[in-house]
Amino acid sequence: MALDVAVLQDKVSQELASIASLEDLKRVRTSVLGRKGLLAQALDQFKSLSPEEKRTVGREINQLKNGTEERLNQLEAGYLEEEKRRRERQSAVDITLPGKKPLTGRVHPITATFREIDRIFSSLGFAVAEGPDIETDYYNFEALNIPKDHPARDMQDTFYVAPGVVLRTHTSPVQIHVMEKQLPPVRVIAPGAVYRNDQDISHTPMFHQVEGLMVDRNVRFSDLKGILTVFVHEMFGADVPVRFRPSYFPFTEPSAEVDIGCVICKGSGCRVCKGTGWLEILGSGMVHPQVFRIVGYDPEEISGFAFGMGVERIAMIRYGIDDIKQFYNNDLRFLSQF
Ligand code: PHE
Repeated sequence: MALDVAVLQDKVSQELASIASLEDLKRVRTSVLGRKGLLAQALDQFKSLSPEEKRTVGREINQLKNGTEERLNQLEAGYLEEEKRRRERQSAVDITLPGKKPLTGRVHPITATFREIDRIFSSLGFAVAEGPDIETDYYNFEALNIPKDHPARDMQDTFYVAPGVVLRTHTSPVQIHVMEKQLPPVRVIAPGAVYRNDQDISHTPMFHQVEGLMVDRNVRFSDLKGILTVFVHEMFGADVPVRFRPSYFPFTEPSAEVDIGCVICKGSGCRVCKGTGWLEILGSGMVHPQVFRIVGYDPEEISGFAFGMGVERIAMIRYGIDDIKQFYNNDLRFLSQF
């Protein structure tokens, strides 16, 4: 007999047995089921068979064809599944690799300094007050006893937003807002941004101050000295010397600038303290009676002191930073050191 289905079956089985990969499978699909494959070749010989033979052989070949197709589909599904799992394994997290450190933010040195100032004055009973960055001429100057055309205005080169409206040049206007709203006793600090048309290695057009105001019966200059000395010792160390140097502000009388012994050279004189051995850190004084009258306080009844410090200045001394612009360059190499 020209067409032996058993032999054909054997050949197909051998072909199926040779499959070890998806590529093999594709090859076998063509070699068995393809247009010129084993089964197609068998059908060529089919024509020469008798009608009875055709019936049985036809059924057998059909079974062989269906069985082969089924087996190939099965194998293919298996290989595809395996391939899928292999891809998943490749893209999955390898828990044996060292971890990537997440980038964490840090507190900006100016914020850290604000918080430290706040902590110290809170412990001395001071509350926190705030005022607007945009002020009228009245709050920024007039109510602080700085009349128009007074030469004291020259000390603060001002940004005017509109006629009579300024970016506050200091936090002192918050003194006025607070006293307008409450009666003595007053014990507040007022942190915030201030603005002056000033720019060099120790000045930026925007910088920060913390104002302080204490008003009550019998507040004396010795209270000012005591509280600011406690502040300096808490901030810079108990062994840092403090000096109160007579000065002038239109809204305080008497006025004093506060210096601390240079933390770089310990007082012997260096570039940072310009050879003086001292660093100026804040302005202060007893609140001027005129300021009390303006807000409706009676200067015969009460007294008080005020002070204002530059936060950048304090942070520069605290961390040994020599250029104020570092605070605002957003350079992570600088910022990540704090
Ligand atoms: N406001 C003053 C300044 O910015 C500082 C100061 C505040 C002085 C309070 C005395 C009292 O220069």
